[in-house]
Amino acid sequence: MTPICVVGGGGYVGLGYAVALAELGHSVVGLDIDAARVERLNHGESPIFEAGLPEMLRRNLDAGRLRFTTDYAEAVPGSDVVFLCTGTPSLSDGEADLRQVRAAAASIGAHLQPGTWTVVVNKSTMPVGTAELVAAIVAEHAPAGAEFAVVSNPEFLREGRVLHDILHPDRVVLGADDDKAIAAVSDLYEPLGAPILKTDHRSAELIKYAANAFLATKISFINDIARLCERMGADVTVVAAGIGADERIGPRFLHAGIGFGGSCFPKDVGALTRMAEGAGLHPGLLRAVLEINRDAGRRFVARADELLGGLDGCQIGVWGLAFKEGTDDLRDSPAVSVIEMLIERGASVRAHDPAALANAASRLPDITLCDDPYAVANGADAIALCTPWPEYKEIDLARLKSAMRGDLLLDGRNMLDPARVEAAGLRYEGIGRGSRKPSLAAGAPSNQAPTRAQPA
Ligand SMILES: NC(=O)c1ccc[n+]([C@@H]2O[C@H](COP(=O)([O-])OP(=O)(O)OC[C@H]3O[C@@H](n4cnc5c(N)ncnc54)[C@H](O)[C@@H]3O)[C@@H](O)[C@H]2O)c1
Repeated sequence: MTPICVVGGGGYVGLGYAVALAELGHSVVGLDIDAARVERLNHGESPIFEAGLPEMLRRNLDAGRLRFTTDYAEAVPGSDVVFLCTGTPSLSDGEADLRQVRAAAASIGAHLQPGTWTVVVNKSTMPVGTAELVAAIVAEHAPAGAEFAVVSNPEFLREGRVLHDILHPDRVVLGADDDKAIAAVSDLYEPLGAPILKTDHRSAELIKYAANAFLATKISFINDIARLCERMGADVTVVAAGIGADERIGPRFLHAGIGFGGSCFPKDVGALTRMAEGAGLHPGLLRAVLEINRDAGRRFVARADELLGGLDGCQIGVWGLAFKEGTDDLRDSPAVSVIEMLIERGASVRAHDPAALANAASRLPDITLCDDPYAVANGADAIALCTPWPEYKEIDLARLKSAMRGDLLLDGRNMLDPARVEAAGLRYEGIGRGSRKPSLAAGAPSNQAPTRAQPA
């Protein structure tokens, strides 16, 4: 059993690690500057929506292996390992904002104890070279006689599957120049049975950015192919299945839609782009990935505008607000940017999300939030599916249709069966489903006049 401190322990990654490390039997203190979160956590209440988290949180609090504090003086002394999990959001030019990391590193250093040796684990996604920066800041603030080592240990978990991914990683990446520190962190991961890749700091840091950039590239690639499908009269879902069946390619991350979002892909591709530019390179591929992604949401709204004969005065029901299913996280959510564009064009929006309504109340004050997916249909000209929550597949489409004043269903995630939608008397519009739209096929005459339902 290792005494561990998790800095940023109230966030998605930090809370996941605090709880999972306690579950593995360690004695964990989660440290966060957000006092309200710490208070809730100490009462067994999870501030974020994640499968299995409330149960595992309470179990480990009750077992006395886990507690939360805002006080570095209480948390760092006595911990052999300190996980650094603070945020690394984007600055306006795309570069990673390291202010949280710098502040946390300074506080960690200031609370190390003379005569101890502590491992600081860089868990946050940090630009190449940050391990040296963290080491320098910790050293600057540490008292004489306090020894420490830094290990770069980037995280690959997915929101919505935080605990699963922490406890069942595909691989663990450890970067350091200190064998003793690598061994100490390897020991923590050893029970998980995952392959451990040991490398230098800079390679470890770059692995994280390259992994996210690759996944984002797959999504933008298929969205680019979707644009082509619309023009060429092909169906991107079939094209994706056809290429994804090739084991060199694989089917995952080949779902055309309104683009990727969340707190990681956009910011990490942006930060990698800035790193490459800073190194004197011209990251054309990365820039294109971001541009295609921005375009995906814009095209979706433009298509709604076209099919409804203008959005001004329209009422749109939106399904899904979180950036993906399984989470309440609205950061950089494509659904949110679609809603903002709809409102800009004069539409009014009623929206549903199974988990993110509480977060949406302050983020989207100009829309009506509904706690029932059918309620968004009341008087709606169109429904726009923006987040692929599985429950939207189970919707009774005839019931939906009867509440709407229009008949358009815009499937921003290609999630619904078009035949089922059309059987309910609705018009179906997906992403890149060109072979379902003869009017858009190359050379075919356009026969799809915009049809907009009149207000009832
Ligand atoms: N969210 C993900 O899916 C995910 C996945 C992999 C990696 N990451 C990376 O992990 C890092 C954390 O991401 P997140 O989504 O958990 O962020 P988050 O914003 O949810 O959590 C960060 C936490 O750090 C706390 N904090 C800020 N400054 C602090 C300080 N000086 N001392 C103590 N606590 C402080 C904040 O109050 C917050 O609770 C980021 O670098 C992110 O890129 C995130």
